Amino acid sequence: MNALRCHAFGPIDNLRVENIPTPVPAAGQVLVDVHAASINYPDTLMVQGLYQVKPPLPFTPGAELSGVVSAVGEGIQHIRVGDRVVCSTGTGAFAEQALAEASRVLPLPKGMDFDVGASFVLAYGTSLHALQTIGRLQPDETLMVLGAAGGVGIAAVEIAKAMGARVIAAASSNEKRALAKQAGADETIDYTQPDWRREVERLTNGEGADVVYDAVGGAYAETALRATAWRGRYLVVGFAAGEIPKLPLNLILLKERAILGVFWGAAMRKDPQQLEVDLKQLSDWFQQGKVKPPVTERVTLEQAASAMVRLSTRQAMGKLVVLPRG
Ligand SMILES: NC(=O)c1ccc[n+]([C@@H]2O[C@H](COP(=O)([O-])OP(=O)(O)OC[C@H]3O[C@@H](n4cnc5c(N)ncnc54)[C@H](OP(=O)(O)O)[C@@H]3O)[C@@H](O)[C@H]2O)c1
Repeated sequence: MNALRCHAFGPIDNLRVENIPTPVPAAGQVLVDVHAASINYPDTLMVQGLYQVKPPLPFTPGAELSGVVSAVGEGIQHIRVGDRVVCSTGTGAFAEQALAEASRVLPLPKGMDFDVGASFVLAYGTSLHALQTIGRLQPDETLMVLGAAGGVGIAAVEIAKAMGARVIAAASSNEKRALAKQAGADETIDYTQPDWRREVERLTNGEGADVVYDAVGGAYAETALRATAWRGRYLVVGFAAGEIPKLPLNLILLKERAILGVFWGAAMRKDPQQLEVDLKQLSDWFQQGKVKPPVTERVTLEQAASAMVRLSTRQAMGKLVVLPRG
């Protein structure tokens, strides 16, 4: 089978498509014919050796996919050959076939295409976990999303609207702000402007946002924390800007704010049943037309590395999907 391979941690451009033996599922695993796999920012960090998880080399990147089960390992009752599924795999998804742990394989929601399905589990699972379980976002509250047109950002916009909250979407270009608006954002702001905190205050009658969803970090974080309301919750989701910010704790004391960490992968490993509950919630919202990942680009396996470069350098928006079978 063809797979995108990483032989050494380094530049994303070094990734190459190679023909490698098809893996065989061990007990508790399934083999999936990959119809689509989406690119997430952590994939780009992982191949550069910059992610908290460093897989043994060589490896195939790609953390989530959709497809059709082609073989099942021993001891699996609930998944059959021919099932249409979505799964988060951690690695291995940018290939014609991939192994997945049965506990992380779920049915492709009814009426969902493979490319949308491949974009559904990780980004939407992360944002639902962040907003519902960690942030406890309420329908009468205002959420501010940084990097609102990115993968997890756009999911946060759609999910917060499905939860009934008001959404302020912060993004760096007109095109990205338009995508966030299309996804349901009530207001958009350009957070590359020096006075953007004033804009958040203007939009919240001087109070600030009740919940901030930050998957960007860097220099934006302190301004966003200052633009968080009394007893607001600041969700630390990621650091796409590259720099892990250090925040002054007096900002927490002064407004009884809370900074809360979000680590979806670890949370789902500790509680796989919650993954099912969350996916059921997301599927229901999908059926009701409330959430739908905006797939903006579809690329072949050969084009996957350059698409990963675009994502890691701020030149992408929405979800980028690899179609390993063309
Ligand atoms: N905590 C968790 O469980 C979890 C799960 C999944 C992902 N994450 C993290 O969440 C972050 C976003 O992941 P994603 O897959 O949504 O990425 P993505 O699709 O690339 O979106 C990231 C957004 O960050 C903004 N950004 C600001 N500065 C940037 C820079 N220098 N380079 C690239 N982007 C920049 C961009 O929006 P603008 O151009 O509008 O600023 C971009 O849309 C990553 O740090 C990832 O590791 C965390």
